[in-house]
Amino acid sequence: MKTAILKTFDADILSAITFLQKGGLVAIPTETVYGLGADARNDMGVARIFEAKGRPSFNPLILHVDGVGMAEKLAVFSDQARVLASRFWPGPLTLVLPIRGGADVSALVTAGLDTLAIRMPAHLVALAVIKGLGAPVAAPSANLSGKVSPTCARHVLDDLWGKIDAVIDAGACEVGVESTIVGFHEEDNGAPILLRPGGINKEAIEAAIGGPLLHSGCKKEKRTLRHENRPSAPGQLSSHYAPSAALRLNVSQARPDEVWVGFGAMGEAAGLNLSKSGNLTEAATSLFDMLRQADQLAKHKAQKIAFAPIPEHGIGLAINDRLRRAAAPR
Ligand code: TXA
Ligand code: MG
Repeated sequence: MKTAILKTFDADILSAITFLQKGGLVAIPTETVYGLGADARNDMGVARIFEAKGRPSFNPLILHVDGVGMAEKLAVFSDQARVLASRFWPGPLTLVLPIRGGADVSALVTAGLDTLAIRMPAHLVALAVIKGLGAPVAAPSANLSGKVSPTCARHVLDDLWGKIDAVIDAGACEVGVESTIVGFHEEDNGAPILLRPGGINKEAIEAAIGGPLLHSGCKKEKRTLRHENRPSAPGQLSSHYAPSAALRLNVSQARPDEVWVGFGAMGEAAGLNLSKSGNLTEAATSLFDMLRQADQLAKHKAQKIAFAPIPEHGIGLAINDRLRRAAAPR
């Protein structure tokens, strides 16, 4: 299959929509990372997402909507979910909500769960595609399963060239890490739970709900989760975001056999730096590209990769989460 490289003119958006209508796959820019999109109603399109990524079929997909109206047709919102959507949409916040009976969505999307993950992306191109299709777009990150997420069209093509119908090239993604995922406790009065740190800071969510966010790993949550043997964000447990080279974290002095990625003043001697000024937002934007660059360099010289310490606050939580998964035993 030949993969078309589309731009962002009206005619390009129209071709993207036509591919989706025929059950095709189109990689779409969002503010977080590029997503591998299919019409969420189309079984064949959704099945092809799993096939192209090599994604296990038990790992459910996020639906992308053009607004709260489309979302409410698919899922049941609690008052708190409405507060979060109105505060953070469009934007990098995904809500996991009970699926509405009769929702027009392929059963493959939820992988057998009775919940749906939904978000409204803050990207004009993504919104134009969803609006034009008139239906939700199912889209996981547009990388091979378990590999580093794509923040530009080149990254998408490196992994998926020849396996997808098209990519819309809208340049680099602004946020650079995936959305924050929030679920709601089935007992405990639907208290919100952080399932994945991401583009919206935990602190901002806590300010919006006026209280603390539970964490998916915490004891209280584990006790009362309905699917005891299922992770609450199924893609979140195993090794993930994995480059080919081995990774060492919190490194203040790299070894001779390591490609060192610095942050701020830590790693001024390093060849790569996530943000020379020590800015976490900038570090998030460059994270996945630097991970790919470091991997190329390391591969070339049969080296490993070392990352300088990243502060554990704000979007630093999401950066450290991705780095820990990238460094996890495979
Ligand atoms: O920023 C993002 O979220 C990007 C862009 C493309 O929107 N998408 C993304 O999708 O990161 P993906 O598939 O790489 O990660 C989605 C995560 C997976 O870990 C999946 O297991 C989890 O969301 N997920 C999906 N549906 C779920 C559900 N019903 N309950 C719990 N977790 C769910
Ligand atoms: Mg992903």
